[in-house]
Amino acid sequence: MNERVVRFTTRELSMRTIDDFEQFFSQVHGCACTLYFFGRHLSSVSGTAQQRAVRLGSAPDRSRKHFPHQELMRKREAAAVRDLVSKGQAHGILVYADGDPVGWCHFGRVDELPVPSEESDPDTIYARLDTTEWVINCFTTRMDHRRQGVATRALNAAVAAIKKRGGGWIEAVPMAFPHDDPTLRKLRRTFRWRSPQVAEYLRDNWPTKELPAIGEVSACLNSTRTMGHMGNMSMFEKAGFTAIQRDDYRSATDPYHRGDFIVMRRHV
Ligand SMILES: CC(C)(COP(=O)(O)OP(=O)(O)OC[C@H]1O[C@@H](n2cnc3c(N)ncnc32)[C@H](O)[C@@H]1OP(=O)(O)O)[C@@H](O)C(=O)NCCC(=O)NCCS
Repeated sequence: MNERVVRFTTRELSMRTIDDFEQFFSQVHGCACTLYFFGRHLSSVSGTAQQRAVRLGSAPDRSRKHFPHQELMRKREAAAVRDLVSKGQAHGILVYADGDPVGWCHFGRVDELPVPSEESDPDTIYARLDTTEWVINCFTTRMDHRRQGVATRALNAAVAAIKKRGGGWIEAVPMAFPHDDPTLRKLRRTFRWRSPQVAEYLRDNWPTKELPAIGEVSACLNSTRTMGHMGNMSMFEKAGFTAIQRDDYRSATDPYHRGDFIVMRRHV
């Protein structure tokens, strides 16, 4: 029997695709990249659960299937991004599977981030290296399309979009390599995160790798279905990026929490 072949395409975020962006972020978790546009998350929506439900025009819901706070935040995030797009201040790539938006990747010019606004944190550091002009920060793929190369397509399209805008040095800080570890998750649930049992397990079992010119790096915890929003080193290597240094800012060497991130660059 023939398997149906999905046709993947990419488009840039613009006023023509903003509805697709909103549709996409109504189907996934995450902050719609407002963290990267503004340098911090939008301030949370005030009020009790009941007041928030009223604002959404619904009765308070006790089924735990609907989260009025999340829904209100999503509306605010969508409105904020729409406003940025209308002013040409937000860049990103949407990936479509047979025309349906299933993936997202943010990219931006370092000297335009964070976008100036009351919500922004002007002290946010976007690039580790002085000569970096562009950053690729965040990926999200809809759950039913994970591990099908969607984020990889978004990354390649982001590099192409940057090149089209004049190019320069692009920086990203992905995880060194992902590692799924159900035992660690179980230990954290049973004994709590900062317990001697967790520290001992990490010390004796956590995988490391030797990277040329960088040294020994530790894995980052992920599950078989999901990986951190910054992507992994191998997908950036395949897109022509080179590993420069271990990122001290994002990496964790805590006895209770291990994981290394790598500053990577490519010039286009
Ligand atoms: C990170 C994420 C975008 C990856 O998307 P994806 O479309 O599944 O990625 P791809 O299929 O293009 O895979 C890219 C690479 O990552 C690897 N990978 C992806 N998911 C993985 C997983 N769960 N475990 C191990 N490796 C994984 C792939 O094998 C591939 O590696 P390769 O280049 O060596 O072949 C996706 O897991 C995701 O959306 N995670 C949640 C991110 C999030 O929280 N976003 C909101 C932020 S506010």
